[in-house]
Amino acid sequence: MLQVLFGKIIFKNPVIAASGTFGTGFEQHFDLSQIGGICTKGLTLCHRTGNKGIRIWETASGIMNSIGLENKGIDLFIKQDLPMLKKIRDEGVRIIINISGSTMAEYVELAALLSEEEADMIELNISCPNVKEGGMLFGITSSTARELVRQVRSVNKLPLIVKLSPNADDIVKIAQCCEEEGADGLSLVNTFKAMAIDIKRRMPVFDNIYAGLSGPAIKPIALRMVHEVCQKVKIPVMGIGGICNGRDALEFIMVGATCIQVGTANFINPNSCLQIITEIDNFLRTEGIPSLDEIRGII
Ligand SMILES: Cc1cc2nc3c(=O)[nH]c(=O)nc-3n(C[C@H](O)[C@H](O)[C@H](O)COP(=O)(O)O)c2cc1C
Repeated sequence: MLQVLFGKIIFKNPVIAASGTFGTGFEQHFDLSQIGGICTKGLTLCHRTGNKGIRIWETASGIMNSIGLENKGIDLFIKQDLPMLKKIRDEGVRIIINISGSTMAEYVELAALLSEEEADMIELNISCPNVKEGGMLFGITSSTARELVRQVRSVNKLPLIVKLSPNADDIVKIAQCCEEEGADGLSLVNTFKAMAIDIKRRMPVFDNIYAGLSGPAIKPIALRMVHEVCQKVKIPVMGIGGICNGRDALEFIMVGATCIQVGTANFINPNSCLQIITEIDNFLRTEGIPSLDEIRGII
């Protein structure tokens, strides 16, 4: 009933834990084999310590983060994390590896190194607002996004989804460029560039001044963007942005998303993904809807 087809890949249900918001430790809360997929924290070629100073800041209806892509780098990821992820994959959970780079060459090298690995998809993060030297720069204008997708596509055999930035000049145009360059799907949105002030210090909260806003505050805007993009591309879309319950998830599916990713909600309640799956299931049963195909993109 909850199974969905994303391109050629079957997900047991459409609920995926979003990059950077889900890691080791969640197995204490529930049986991970029940979720549709896990998207890993942004991976770079070399180990990154991330940004200095405050990295998470709570707002009235969301959080701001400036983690700065802290991660162990591809070698240790392949040695330490991938074996554990493969075990979850054996239980039918789709594994999506999120990659980031400071230069086009870094993205390409990463993508080439991961091409033969046992994962289900690569998610190309061209939308991180928290690293000065790259990330979002590639996702702001369609020409850079196009070139990057073309180069990554040519070296990686795994299905490729591109994670779009809500801070882009024209998110629909970028989505269309990614489709033209052979992306198998899209995911949107990443965090919104935002700001907070520490009035006692009379300074911005974050060392980088700006940080990425996520959570319920961004949901209506993310939903509008997913709707706009779904009208203009044929490849499948993963909807992301402030999804906290089954109702939120269904809204994204009704505007055209095939899967959804859950981020900030995991910090509010580690059981969020599981609850969202149950709530979607309950809705379909109560409404007598046999599959999500019946309601996808009806708006
Ligand atoms: C603490 C934190 C770390 C994140 N790290 C990444 C990352 O490494 N790569 C990425 O593509 N997105 C990252 N994101 C963005 C989320 O995956 C997601 O796109 C965004 O938070 C919007 O969804 P949400 O409102 O459900 O949180 C991060 C978000 C948060 C809050």
